[in-house]
Amino acid sequence: MTNTPPVCNYEGSDYQTSFWEQGGREYEDRAEAIALRRMLPESGKIMLELGAGAGRNTPRYAGFEKIVVLDYSTTQLAQAQEKLGRSAKHIYVAADIYRLPFRDSQFDAATMIRTLHHMSDAPKALSQIRNVLQPNAVFILEFANKLNLKSILRYWLGQQDWNPFTLEPVEFVKLNFDFHPKAIRNWLGELGFSIEQTLAVSHFRLGFLKRIISAKILAALDGFFQPTGALWQFTPSVFVKARCTATEAGARPGFTSVVNLFKCPDCGSENLEESKDHLHCPSCKADWAVRDGIYDFRERIK
Ligand SMILES: C[S@@+](CC[C@H](N)C(=O)[O-])C[C@H]1O[C@@H](n2cnc3c(N)ncnc32)[C@H](O)[C@@H]1O
Repeated sequence: MTNTPPVCNYEGSDYQTSFWEQGGREYEDRAEAIALRRMLPESGKIMLELGAGAGRNTPRYAGFEKIVVLDYSTTQLAQAQEKLGRSAKHIYVAADIYRLPFRDSQFDAATMIRTLHHMSDAPKALSQIRNVLQPNAVFILEFANKLNLKSILRYWLGQQDWNPFTLEPVEFVKLNFDFHPKAIRNWLGELGFSIEQTLAVSHFRLGFLKRIISAKILAALDGFFQPTGALWQFTPSVFVKARCTATEAGARPGFTSVVNLFKCPDCGSENLEESKDHLHCPSCKADWAVRDGIYDFRERIK
């Protein structure tokens, strides 16, 4: 087993209901939908959704032939299955982003929305993602921005001890991090991504505005201002569209079968053998469970 940073565990969480459906966040959801529409390729072969949760965004990727819906929590994935159904289009994978169970250069797109903020070692997570993307693949990353207007004002008024202008992430609650936009740009650049588009999202995340203006109108206004992200980013949420620059490794052949996507996360072997209820690694003898339509790569069952 490799040593990986801690995971923020959503097992058994009612996040989708309490945060989104009953949490008064229709505005944020609509604003994110606008940002995704602007950044997503119209179509594609196979998309990797990292930290998919209950599949809130997954229907927005319908232009892709296949979508790998990945999360650490199997209860989140079960909710995603309920929403999206079980079909050959959706492949459900329980795995740790720090230890992705995929062969290199498999995906022509990936998204990670509202998930990097749980990563104490963001560069490590991003490098895992880079490995599994094909040359020229698109990566859409949403991150929580420490340089947002509210944190700047609070800092200047002496109500906040951490400095929003410095590059290091801030952990404002255990395993919840805000990032500086420049740090994100630096990490992506070092990993061989080039940034094509930046959108500033959720300008109006303020209780009193959300109470007096409809979510639809606020989101439309947000959509109008999102492109200012190319110039400055002072919103609590930022979307970046990055593209993998070509590497020497080059592209792999396209999707052939589900089992051919995977590698053993323990030893890296690409020759996993498929049985009814598990995948077997002949190299390190690990067995990985396949339960209720979910490939589970978190802990070996043998
Ligand atoms: C705030 S939720 C966001 C869910 C979804 N992207 C959305 O926007 O509705 C964060 C998700 O990231 C998942 N997650 C956190 N750390 C992870 C890790 N190391 N590997 C895989 N998933 C992780 C959690 O289980 C959770 O479902």
